[in-house]
Amino acid sequence: MSPRPYTVLSCSMSMDGFLAAGDRHPLMLSNSADLDRVDEVRAGCDAILVGAETIRADDPRLLVRSAARQERRVAAGASPSPVKVTVTARGALDRNARFLTTGSAEKLVYCPSSAVAAIGRRLGTFATVVDAGQRVTMRGVVEDLHRRGIRRLMVEGGGSVLTQFLTAGLADELQLAVAPVFIGDSRAPRFVGDGRFPWTTGNRADLVAARSVGDVALLRYALSDRFDGTRGEPLAMTSGSAPAPPAPG
Ligand SMILES: NC(=O)c1ccc[n+]([C@@H]2O[C@H](COP(=O)([O-])OP(=O)(O)OC[C@H]3O[C@@H](n4cnc5c(N)ncnc54)[C@H](OP(=O)(O)O)[C@@H]3O)[C@@H](O)[C@H]2O)c1
Repeated sequence: MSPRPYTVLSCSMSMDGFLAAGDRHPLMLSNSADLDRVDEVRAGCDAILVGAETIRADDPRLLVRSAARQERRVAAGASPSPVKVTVTARGALDRNARFLTTGSAEKLVYCPSSAVAAIGRRLGTFATVVDAGQRVTMRGVVEDLHRRGIRRLMVEGGGSVLTQFLTAGLADELQLAVAPVFIGDSRAPRFVGDGRFPWTTGNRADLVAARSVGDVALLRYALSDRFDGTRGEPLAMTSGSAPAPPAPG
C-alpha cells in the first residue's frame, strides 16, 4: 500500500442525517461558531476535496476565510488556502464555478482516462486535470495527492465522496457537526449512502470528543490507528458521565 495523506472527513448534517434540502439547495445547517471552527481545520490542511456535485449544488469557494489564518499559512511557506481537489466522471463543471475561479492555490480535477481529453479542453485553463486511470478510486486519488506533497487532506463532502472514503478505510478521523434541525425529505442527500462500513455494532468507532458549538453538537471520531489527537478539536467530552466544569461566574 502506498503512503496517503492524513485524512479528516468533515460535514454538518441534520438530526435526521441529511446534508442539504430535498431540492438540493444548500442549507445553513451549521452556525457561525462552527464555520469558524471548520475554517481553522481548513487552515491546517494542505488540500480540501469535495465531490463534483457539491461544486454544482453549493458553488463553494473552499478558501480559508480568516486573514490571520491565511497569514499564518503564508508565513509557514504555504499558499493562503489549501489546494482544491475534486473528482468527476462527467466533468460537468461550470467554468465560472468558484472552486475554479477563486484562490491562488492549485486546483486538481481527477477523472477517468476516457474523459481526460474532453475535460482538459473545458477546464484545463483553470485546473490541472489528472488522469486517474480507468476508474477513479479514492485510494488512487489520495496516493497521487501524497506524491504531490499533500500530507493532510480535508474531505468536505458530499455524501457520495464521504461514503467512498469511509467504506475504503481511507479516513483517519471524522468531524461530524449535528445541527438541531430535521429535513424530513427522503429526496435530500444523506450523510452517507449504502456500503460496507468498517464500523458496525461489533466494531464501534472511537468517539474522542463531543461538545456543543453553539447549538450544534460536534462529534469527533478516531477512525484509524493513525489518528492524531495532538491537532484539532481537544479530546474531551461534555457528557452526563463526565460533566463539564461550571463556567466561571
Ligand atoms: N452539509 C454539509 O456539510 C455538506 C457538505 C458537502 C456537500 N453537501 C451537500 O451534499 C450534496 C452533494 O452530495 P452528493 O453525494 O450528491 O455528491 P458529491 O459527493 O458532492 O459528488 C458526487 C459527484 O462526484 C463525482 N464522483 C464521486 N465519486 C466519483 C468517482 N469515484 N469517480 C468519478 N467521479 C466521482 C461524480 O461527479 P460527476 O457527476 O461530475 O461525474 C458524482 O456525481 C449537495 O446537496 C451539497 O449541498 C453538504
